[in-house]
Amino acid sequence: MRPVNLFDYEKLAQERLEPAIWDFYHGGSDDEVTLRECRRAFERIRLRPRVLVDVSTIEMRTTVLGTPVSMPILIAPTAAHGLAHAHGEVATVRAAGQSETLMIVSTTAALGIAEVAAAASGPLWFQLYTHHSLEITGKLVRQAEELGYRAIALTVDIPRLGNRERDLYNKFVLEERTPLPNYPSQDITALERHMIDTWETVDWLRATTKLPILLKGILTAEDALLAIEHKVAGIIVSNHGGRQLDGAIPSIEALPEVVEAVKGRCEVYVDGGIRRGTDILKALALGARAVLIGRPIIWGLAVDGQQGVLRVLEILRNELEMAMALAGRPNLASIDPSLLKL
Ligand code: FNR
Repeated sequence: MRPVNLFDYEKLAQERLEPAIWDFYHGGSDDEVTLRECRRAFERIRLRPRVLVDVSTIEMRTTVLGTPVSMPILIAPTAAHGLAHAHGEVATVRAAGQSETLMIVSTTAALGIAEVAAAASGPLWFQLYTHHSLEITGKLVRQAEELGYRAIALTVDIPRLGNRERDLYNKFVLEERTPLPNYPSQDITALERHMIDTWETVDWLRATTKLPILLKGILTAEDALLAIEHKVAGIIVSNHGGRQLDGAIPSIEALPEVVEAVKGRCEVYVDGGIRRGTDILKALALGARAVLIGRPIIWGLAVDGQQGVLRVLEILRNELEMAMALAGRPNLASIDPSLLKL
Protein backbone atom coordinates (compact mmCIF):
# COMPACT_ATOMS: atom_id res chain seq x y z
CA MET A 1 0.00 0.00 0.00
CA ARG A 2 1.23 3.45 -0.89
CA PRO A 3 0.44 5.57 2.15
CA VAL A 4 -1.91 8.43 1.37
CA ASN A 5 -2.40 9.92 4.82
CA LEU A 6 -0.88 9.79 8.29
CA PHE A 7 -3.17 6.99 9.41
CA ASP A 8 -1.72 4.79 6.64
CA TYR A 9 1.73 5.48 8.06
CA GLU A 10 0.40 4.56 11.50
CA LYS A 11 -0.79 1.14 10.25
CA LEU A 12 2.42 0.45 8.36
CA ALA A 13 4.56 1.49 11.31
CA GLN A 14 2.66 -0.83 13.60
CA GLU A 15 3.31 -3.70 11.18
CA ARG A 16 7.02 -2.93 11.08
CA LEU A 17 7.84 -2.31 14.71
CA GLU A 18 8.36 -4.87 17.43
CA PRO A 19 5.16 -4.80 19.53
CA ALA A 20 6.87 -3.51 22.69
CA ILE A 21 8.45 -0.65 20.77
CA TRP A 22 5.16 0.13 19.05
CA ASP A 23 3.48 0.23 22.45
CA PHE A 24 6.15 2.55 23.83
CA TYR A 25 5.65 5.02 20.99
CA HIS A 26 1.89 4.67 20.77
CA GLY A 27 0.83 4.45 24.39
CA GLY A 28 -0.59 6.94 26.86
CA SER A 29 -0.95 6.77 30.62
CA ASP A 30 -3.52 4.86 32.73
CA ASP A 31 -6.67 4.31 30.64
CA GLU A 32 -5.46 6.47 27.74
CA VAL A 33 -8.51 8.71 28.05
CA THR A 34 -6.55 11.88 27.28
CA LEU A 35 -4.82 10.15 24.39
CA ARG A 36 -8.19 9.26 22.79
CA GLU A 37 -9.79 12.60 23.63
CA CYS A 38 -6.99 14.48 21.89
CA ARG A 39 -8.28 13.11 18.58
CA ARG A 40 -11.97 13.45 19.39
CA ALA A 41 -11.51 17.06 20.45
CA PHE A 42 -10.30 17.93 16.96
CA GLU A 43 -13.16 16.02 15.38
CA ARG A 44 -15.69 18.00 17.44
CA ILE A 45 -14.51 21.39 16.15
CA ARG A 46 -16.48 22.57 13.12
CA LEU A 47 -15.43 25.07 10.49
CA ARG A 48 -17.17 28.02 8.84
CA PRO A 49 -15.64 28.21 5.36
CA ARG A 50 -15.84 31.36 3.25
CA VAL A 51 -16.36 31.14 -0.49
CA LEU A 52 -15.49 33.10 -3.62
CA VAL A 53 -12.15 34.10 -2.15
CA ASP A 54 -9.17 34.05 -4.51
CA VAL A 55 -7.29 31.01 -3.24
CA SER A 56 -5.15 30.48 -6.32
CA THR A 57 -2.05 31.07 -4.21
CA ILE A 58 -1.79 29.76 -0.68
CA GLU A 59 0.92 31.24 1.53
CA MET A 60 1.92 29.49 4.76
CA ARG A 61 5.45 30.62 5.45
CA THR A 62 5.88 32.00 8.93
CA THR A 63 8.42 32.59 11.67
CA VAL A 64 8.76 30.87 15.03
CA LEU A 65 10.55 33.00 17.62
CA GLY A 66 11.95 34.94 14.69
CA THR A 67 13.17 31.92 12.75
CA PRO A 68 11.66 31.50 9.27
CA VAL A 69 9.99 28.16 8.49
CA SER A 70 8.17 27.11 5.33
CA MET A 71 5.01 26.09 7.19
CA PRO A 72 3.49 26.29 10.69
CA ILE A 73 4.30 22.63 11.32
CA LEU A 74 7.22 21.72 13.59
CA ILE A 75 8.66 18.41 14.79
CA ALA A 76 7.87 17.73 18.45
CA PRO A 77 10.59 16.35 20.69
CA THR A 78 10.19 12.60 21.03
CA ALA A 79 12.51 10.04 22.57
CA ALA A 80 14.84 7.53 20.98
CA HIS A 81 14.32 7.71 17.23
CA GLY A 82 16.93 4.95 16.95
CA LEU A 83 14.29 2.43 17.98
CA ALA A 84 12.25 3.30 14.90
CA HIS A 85 15.07 3.45 12.34
CA ALA A 86 18.81 2.75 12.30
CA HIS A 87 19.59 6.36 11.36
CA GLY A 88 17.48 7.68 14.21
CA GLU A 89 17.43 11.43 14.76
CA VAL A 90 19.85 11.99 11.86
CA ALA A 91 17.14 10.82 9.44
CA THR A 92 14.53 12.99 11.15
CA VAL A 93 16.63 16.13 11.19
CA ARG A 94 17.54 15.73 7.52
CA ALA A 95 13.88 15.46 6.60
CA ALA A 96 13.14 18.56 8.68
CA GLY A 97 15.80 20.43 6.70
CA GLN A 98 14.37 19.23 3.38
CA SER A 99 10.94 20.47 4.42
CA GLU A 100 12.43 23.74 5.62
CA THR A 101 11.00 23.39 9.05
CA LEU A 102 12.29 23.15 12.57
CA MET A 103 12.98 20.12 14.76
CA ILE A 104 12.91 20.20 18.53
CA VAL A 105 15.54 17.70 19.64
CA SER A 106 14.76 15.76 22.82
CA THR A 107 17.12 15.37 25.76
CA THR A 108 16.08 11.72 25.45
CA ALA A 109 17.36 11.45 21.86
CA ALA A 110 19.25 8.29 20.98
CA LEU A 111 22.04 10.47 19.58
CA GLY A 112 24.01 13.26 21.18
CA ILE A 113 22.83 16.79 20.52
CA ALA A 114 26.10 17.48 18.70
CA GLU A 115 25.58 14.60 16.29
CA VAL A 116 22.05 15.75 15.50
CA ALA A 117 23.22 19.35 14.99
CA ALA A 118 25.97 18.12 12.63
CA ALA A 119 23.36 16.47 10.37
CA ALA A 120 20.98 19.44 10.42
CA SER A 121 20.48 21.83 7.54
CA GLY A 122 17.60 23.66 9.20
CA PRO A 123 16.97 25.34 12.53
CA LEU A 124 16.84 23.42 15.83
CA TRP A 125 15.46 23.98 19.29
CA PHE A 126 16.57 21.88 22.23
CA GLN A 127 14.00 20.25 24.52
CA LEU A 128 15.37 20.15 28.03
CA TYR A 129 14.80 17.69 30.82
CA THR A 130 16.80 18.90 33.79
CA HIS A 131 19.16 16.48 35.51
CA HIS A 132 19.77 16.04 39.23
CA SER A 133 22.61 18.46 39.08
CA LEU A 134 22.01 21.97 37.82
CA GLU A 135 25.70 22.12 36.99
CA ILE A 136 25.33 19.24 34.54
CA THR A 137 22.11 20.71 33.21
CA GLY A 138 23.82 24.06 32.72
CA LYS A 139 26.62 22.40 30.74
CA LEU A 140 24.11 20.73 28.44
CA VAL A 141 22.30 24.04 27.88
CA ARG A 142 25.57 25.81 27.09
CA GLN A 143 26.52 23.01 24.71
CA ALA A 144 23.19 23.43 22.91
CA GLU A 145 23.84 27.16 22.70
CA GLU A 146 27.31 26.63 21.23
CA LEU A 147 25.98 24.11 18.73
CA GLY A 148 23.56 26.68 17.36
CA TYR A 149 20.28 25.51 18.86
CA ARG A 150 18.07 28.59 18.81
CA ALA A 151 15.80 28.09 21.81
CA ILE A 152 15.36 25.90 24.87
CA ALA A 153 12.00 24.22 25.41
CA LEU A 154 11.80 23.17 29.04
CA THR A 155 9.26 20.39 29.46
CA VAL A 156 7.27 21.09 32.60
CA ASP A 157 4.63 18.36 32.72
CA ILE A 158 6.80 15.53 33.92
CA PRO A 159 7.67 15.88 37.64
CA ARG A 160 7.66 12.11 37.43
CA LEU A 161 7.08 9.71 34.59
CA GLY A 162 3.38 9.00 33.86
CA ASN A 163 1.96 5.52 34.43
CA ARG A 164 2.42 3.88 31.06
CA GLU A 165 0.92 0.47 31.59
CA ARG A 166 1.76 -0.89 28.15
CA ASP A 167 5.41 -0.54 29.11
CA LEU A 168 4.79 -2.27 32.44
CA TYR A 169 3.12 -5.26 30.76
CA ASN A 170 5.93 -5.42 28.20
CA LYS A 171 8.65 -4.91 30.85
CA PHE A 172 9.88 -2.21 28.49
CA VAL A 173 12.60 -0.05 29.98
CA LEU A 174 13.78 2.64 27.59
CA GLU A 175 17.32 2.93 28.89
CA GLU A 176 17.84 -0.82 28.46
CA ARG A 177 16.95 -0.51 24.77
CA THR A 178 18.85 2.53 23.63
CA PRO A 179 21.79 4.70 24.47
CA LEU A 180 20.72 8.08 25.87
CA PRO A 181 23.90 10.10 25.35
CA ASN A 182 22.46 13.39 26.60
CA TYR A 183 22.15 11.96 30.10
CA PRO A 184 25.20 11.69 32.29
CA SER A 185 25.83 8.03 33.11
CA GLN A 186 24.63 8.26 36.69
CA ASP A 187 21.24 9.50 35.51
CA ILE A 188 20.63 6.90 32.85
CA THR A 189 18.97 4.37 35.13
CA ALA A 190 16.99 7.13 36.76
CA LEU A 191 14.98 8.76 34.02
CA GLU A 192 12.01 8.98 36.32
CA ARG A 193 13.96 10.68 39.01
CA HIS A 194 15.19 13.73 37.21
CA MET A 195 15.00 16.92 39.15
CA ILE A 196 11.63 18.24 40.24
CA ASP A 197 11.41 21.57 38.49
CA THR A 198 9.63 24.63 39.92
CA TRP A 199 9.28 28.23 38.76
CA GLU A 200 12.71 28.74 40.34
CA THR A 201 14.10 26.37 37.73
CA VAL A 202 12.67 28.63 35.03
CA ASP A 203 14.41 31.64 36.61
CA TRP A 204 17.62 29.65 36.91
CA LEU A 205 17.38 28.70 33.24
CA ARG A 206 16.78 32.31 32.21
CA ALA A 207 19.88 33.35 34.12
CA THR A 208 21.88 30.49 32.58
CA THR A 209 21.18 31.04 28.91
CA LYS A 210 20.64 33.90 26.53
CA LEU A 211 18.48 31.70 24.33
CA PRO A 212 14.74 32.23 24.36
CA ILE A 213 12.90 29.84 26.65
CA LEU A 214 9.66 28.00 25.95
CA LEU A 215 7.68 26.03 28.50
CA LYS A 216 6.22 22.84 27.10
CA GLY A 217 3.27 21.27 28.87
CA ILE A 218 1.10 24.16 30.03
CA LEU A 219 -2.68 23.57 29.98
CA THR A 220 -4.17 26.43 32.02
CA ALA A 221 -4.51 30.21 31.94
CA GLU A 222 -3.11 30.34 35.50
CA ASP A 223 0.17 28.75 34.47
CA ALA A 224 0.27 30.76 31.25
CA LEU A 225 0.14 33.96 33.30
CA LEU A 226 2.93 32.72 35.57
CA ALA A 227 4.96 31.86 32.49
CA ILE A 228 4.57 35.44 31.29
CA GLU A 229 5.65 36.73 34.71
CA HIS A 230 8.73 34.54 34.40
CA LYS A 231 9.42 36.07 30.99
CA VAL A 232 9.25 33.10 28.69
CA ALA A 233 9.32 33.61 24.94
CA GLY A 234 6.89 30.83 24.16
CA ILE A 235 4.38 28.36 25.57
CA ILE A 236 3.70 24.95 24.11
CA VAL A 237 0.20 23.88 25.11
CA SER A 238 0.54 20.14 25.51
CA ASN A 239 -0.43 17.15 27.61
CA HIS A 240 2.63 15.23 26.47
CA GLY A 241 0.61 13.24 23.95
CA GLY A 242 -1.59 11.80 26.72
CA ARG A 243 1.39 10.21 28.44
CA GLN A 244 1.36 12.09 31.75
CA LEU A 245 -1.84 13.01 33.67
CA ASP A 246 -4.66 10.89 32.29
CA GLY A 247 -7.88 12.89 32.29
CA ALA A 248 -6.02 16.10 31.52
CA ILE A 249 -7.91 18.16 28.98
CA PRO A 250 -7.11 17.78 25.30
CA SER A 251 -4.54 20.43 24.48
CA ILE A 252 -6.67 21.88 21.67
CA GLU A 253 -9.35 22.59 24.30
CA ALA A 254 -6.80 24.26 26.58
CA LEU A 255 -5.45 26.45 23.79
CA PRO A 256 -8.15 29.17 23.89
CA GLU A 257 -7.69 29.96 27.59
CA VAL A 258 -3.92 30.11 27.21
CA VAL A 259 -4.16 32.37 24.16
CA GLU A 260 -6.64 34.58 25.97
CA ALA A 261 -4.42 34.85 29.07
CA VAL A 262 -1.24 35.54 27.12
CA LYS A 263 -2.72 38.34 25.00
CA GLY A 264 0.10 38.27 22.49
CA ARG A 265 2.87 38.62 25.07
CA CYS A 266 4.56 35.41 23.96
CA GLU A 267 4.12 32.92 21.14
CA VAL A 268 1.76 30.00 21.75
CA TYR A 269 2.13 26.57 20.18
CA VAL A 270 0.08 23.41 20.55
CA ASP A 271 0.58 19.68 20.11
CA GLY A 272 -1.33 16.44 20.67
CA GLY A 273 -3.41 14.42 18.23
CA ILE A 274 -2.71 16.52 15.14
CA ARG A 275 -3.09 14.17 12.17
CA ARG A 276 -4.75 16.25 9.43
CA GLY A 277 -4.33 19.57 7.70
CA THR A 278 -7.75 20.54 9.01
CA ASP A 279 -6.51 19.91 12.58
CA ILE A 280 -3.72 22.40 11.93
CA LEU A 281 -6.18 24.89 10.47
CA LYS A 282 -8.30 24.59 13.63
CA ALA A 283 -5.26 25.08 15.90
CA LEU A 284 -4.21 28.19 13.96
CA ALA A 285 -7.77 29.57 14.11
CA LEU A 286 -7.66 29.14 17.89
CA GLY A 287 -4.50 31.23 18.07
CA ALA A 288 -1.57 28.84 17.79
CA ARG A 289 1.42 30.24 15.94
CA ALA A 290 2.36 26.73 14.78
CA VAL A 291 1.75 23.12 15.75
CA LEU A 292 4.08 20.31 16.78
CA ILE A 293 3.80 16.77 15.44
CA GLY A 294 4.89 13.86 17.65
CA ARG A 295 4.00 10.26 16.85
CA PRO A 296 3.38 10.64 13.07
CA ILE A 297 7.02 11.62 12.63
CA ILE A 298 8.01 8.34 14.26
CA TRP A 299 5.62 6.45 12.00
CA GLY A 300 7.24 7.98 8.92
CA LEU A 301 10.66 7.18 10.32
CA ALA A 302 9.74 3.56 11.04
CA VAL A 303 8.26 3.01 7.58
CA ASP A 304 10.87 4.69 5.42
CA GLY A 305 13.53 6.57 7.42
CA GLN A 306 14.29 10.09 6.22
CA GLN A 307 11.97 9.67 3.18
CA GLY A 308 9.14 8.59 5.43
CA VAL A 309 9.49 11.60 7.71
CA LEU A 310 9.68 13.85 4.67
CA ARG A 311 6.48 12.31 3.25
CA VAL A 312 4.64 12.75 6.56
CA LEU A 313 5.62 16.42 6.63
CA GLU A 314 4.70 16.93 2.99
CA ILE A 315 1.32 15.19 3.41
CA LEU A 316 0.56 17.58 6.26
CA ARG A 317 1.72 20.56 4.21
CA ASN A 318 -0.49 19.52 1.26
CA GLU A 319 -3.46 18.86 3.51
CA LEU A 320 -3.08 22.26 5.20
CA GLU A 321 -2.81 23.90 1.80
CA MET A 322 -6.02 22.17 0.69
CA ALA A 323 -7.79 23.04 3.95
CA MET A 324 -6.82 26.72 3.64
CA ALA A 325 -8.07 26.82 0.05
CA LEU A 326 -11.39 25.13 0.83
CA ALA A 327 -11.89 27.38 3.86
CA GLY A 328 -11.26 30.52 1.81
CA ARG A 329 -8.21 31.45 3.89
CA PRO A 330 -5.30 31.97 1.46
CA ASN A 331 -2.78 33.11 4.05
CA LEU A 332 -2.09 32.70 7.77
CA ALA A 333 -3.30 36.22 8.64
CA SER A 334 -6.77 35.34 7.31
CA ILE A 335 -7.09 32.37 9.70
CA ASP A 336 -8.92 33.69 12.75
CA PRO A 337 -11.62 32.56 15.22
CA SER A 338 -14.38 33.49 12.75
CA LEU A 339 -13.40 30.26 10.97
CA LEU A 340 -14.78 28.25 13.90
CA LYS A 341 -18.33 27.34 14.84
CA LEU A 342 -18.04 27.61 18.62
C1 FNR B 1 7.00 12.18 23.60
N1 FNR B 1 6.95 13.49 24.07
C2 FNR B 1 8.10 14.05 24.59
N2 FNR B 1 8.09 15.35 25.00
C3 FNR B 1 9.20 15.92 25.48
O1 FNR B 1 9.17 17.08 25.85
N3 FNR B 1 10.37 15.21 25.54
C4 FNR B 1 10.45 13.92 25.14
O2 FNR B 1 11.52 13.31 25.20
C5 FNR B 1 9.28 13.29 24.68
N4 FNR B 1 9.31 12.00 24.29
C6 FNR B 1 8.19 11.43 23.73
C7 FNR B 1 8.25 10.13 23.25
C8 FNR B 1 7.16 9.57 22.63
C9 FNR B 1 7.25 8.17 22.09
C10 FNR B 1 5.97 10.33 22.47
C11 FNR B 1 4.77 9.76 21.77
C12 FNR B 1 5.90 11.60 22.96
C13 FNR B 1 5.75 14.32 23.85
C14 FNR B 1 5.78 15.00 22.49
O3 FNR B 1 6.73 16.02 22.46
C15 FNR B 1 4.44 15.63 22.12
O4 FNR B 1 4.01 16.47 23.17
C16 FNR B 1 3.36 14.62 21.78
O5 FNR B 1 3.89 13.48 21.18
C17 FNR B 1 2.34 15.28 20.85
O6 FNR B 1 1.30 14.44 20.59
P1 FNR B 1 1.19 13.53 19.25
O7 FNR B 1 1.51 14.38 18.06
O8 FNR B 1 2.13 12.39 19.44
O9 FNR B 1 -0.25 13.10 19.30
